[in-house]
Amino acid sequence: MRKWLMRAGVVFAATLAAIQLVPVERANPPVESDIAAPDDVKKILRRSCYDCHSNETRWPWYARLAPVSWLISSDVSEGRREVNFSAWSQFTGGRRARKFKEIVEQVEGNKMPQWYYVLMHPDAKLAPGEKEIILNWAKQALQS
Ligand code: HEC
Repeated sequence: MRKWLMRAGVVFAATLAAIQLVPVERANPPVESDIAAPDDVKKILRRSCYDCHSNETRWPWYARLAPVSWLISSDVSEGRREVNFSAWSQFTGGRRARKFKEIVEQVEGNKMPQWYYVLMHPDAKLAPGEKEIILNWAKQALQS
């Protein structure tokens, strides 16, 4: 039994070491067109959304550790694909309006930032007053 456990341990450690070699996308491309928003809005977006929705991601140390790094990397690339505040000018007209609508839905429904992100980044949690600020801003943008 002990021998078996030792072997299992060696295989586990070797696997963990091997998966570190899988290349992971972990880059911050240049900021093209940062979204223009009032200071209070911008501060909240930067703190609670920019890690996944901008090209200014603050990569934590555990983003270097597979398999966690794979999850983080895929969240960031998927997040940037949906909404990238660093390339905001790519959204025009109806598409931009749709993004603002989605922001309202996500924030109103407490879906963003995701609970597991908040677990690791407690300061990213939106206080009720901060939710209000984001919602007012996005709704106003929808009307203009
Ligand atoms: C941990 C990474 C992460 C953080 C932090 C985060 N998002 Fe997201 N967001 C994602 C991912 C991944 C998706 C795409 C998959 C999905 O919809 O869940 C997404 C999707 C979205 C969408 C599109 C949803 C749709 O209807 O398709 C909006 C809008 C959005 N996020 C807004 C925000 C806002 C606003 C914040 C900050 C208050 C935020 N997100 C914080 C990762 C994140």
